[in-house]
Amino acid sequence: MDAIKVGLLGLGTVGGGTATVLLRNAEEIQARVGRAIHIVHAAGLGIHAQTILDPATCKLTEDAFEVVNDPDVEIVVELIGGYTLAKELVLKAIENGKHVVTANKALIATHGPEIMKAATAQGVSVCYEAAVAGGVPIIKAMREGLAANRIRWVAGIINGTGNFILSEMRSKGREFADVLKEAQELGYAEADPTFDVEGIDAAHKLTILASLAFGIELQFDKTYTEGISRITPEDVSYAEELGYRIKHLGITRKTDKGIELRVHPTLIPEKRLIANVDGVMNAVLVQGDAVGPTLYYGAGAGAEPTASAVIADIIDTVRTIDAPLHHKVPLLGFQNDAMRDTPVLSIDDVESAYYLRMEAEDHPGVLAAVSAVFAENNISIEAVLQKEPAAGEVRVNLIMLTQKCIESNINLAIQAIEKLDSIHREVVRIRMEHLD
Ligand code: HSE
Repeated sequence: MDAIKVGLLGLGTVGGGTATVLLRNAEEIQARVGRAIHIVHAAGLGIHAQTILDPATCKLTEDAFEVVNDPDVEIVVELIGGYTLAKELVLKAIENGKHVVTANKALIATHGPEIMKAATAQGVSVCYEAAVAGGVPIIKAMREGLAANRIRWVAGIINGTGNFILSEMRSKGREFADVLKEAQELGYAEADPTFDVEGIDAAHKLTILASLAFGIELQFDKTYTEGISRITPEDVSYAEELGYRIKHLGITRKTDKGIELRVHPTLIPEKRLIANVDGVMNAVLVQGDAVGPTLYYGAGAGAEPTASAVIADIIDTVRTIDAPLHHKVPLLGFQNDAMRDTPVLSIDDVESAYYLRMEAEDHPGVLAAVSAVFAENNISIEAVLQKEPAAGEVRVNLIMLTQKCIESNINLAIQAIEKLDSIHREVVRIRMEHLD
């Protein structure tokens, strides 16, 4: 059979990795697919890929539209990132009848419905395995491996940069900014690193996982998003003293009232496997009604791990290239006419346990006053930790863990505690999940 002709958009970290792995493992891949896969046209600024791609067999350009308009190209691989240009290119490729593979989580999370509608109308596929958790095949696991299950909840460490930063802060006591710089140098971070540290990247990925889990539309705008930039070494170390680790988690859960969709720093018991996922590694825990908990682990960023997922999508596309769409796995794992309109809950209606840290005056009655506020708001206390005041200090750090309650109740309690004369500064609040 003839080789499949691929057009590559983007020759940065992931584009370079994809070209490298496709060439290095060409024989192995052909043995699996039954056809060779050739990159015949590639676009990227600066075109460093000349060192990887052979200009004798692959046209190189700085104009990505030349690739999507090339009649020879059968599969377009979009590795440019961002929303605007990537969206135009992907829609043009679809209009031209080409199958698309993308690693672009921002694009799928925000423009996925439009792109998938266009692809369905044209009878072409759009694959996005590399958009979530880098090299971990979580999209395939959720769309296919777990298809028998009603999914109860998903909780994931889905931003490698954030996990790398929190891991280094915990194990080496390093400063946030210093670790972020290293993550950028290693090629883990997004072009705009606030996407990593403020949780936007994780929210894009969680939006996709929630659709796959519950058959709901992609709803990035309804995802509650909080990053790690306000986490201090103090909280990391108090959490540890209490038997927890702070991880930046994306959590989506189906409840009787609707679907929780939230990304935030979270205390989780240190004995959970996922609490021990460190560095740039990602992990996604999926709870299905039949299978129980399953955990998927691997590198969430970096050139070759992400290329591994991109190439798996190219291979899947090639294997079913002649099949009609209704013989392929649905783009979001559910049939289009079976998508549900289950509401996404506001964060105020979410139920969680909490870690609270407050700076308290060290005199009789302070703990009683704080406890009274919890009682008034129907919140049960799980544990209390009071640190010795530092030499010459009159204030102490008071750490309280609560049992589960509704977020709006904890907000009322925090407001009341901050008004107490014996409490200074803002109360630090970190959500806590037991994941059992
Ligand atoms: N910036 C992302 C991360 C890259 O750190 O996880 C992979 O999406």
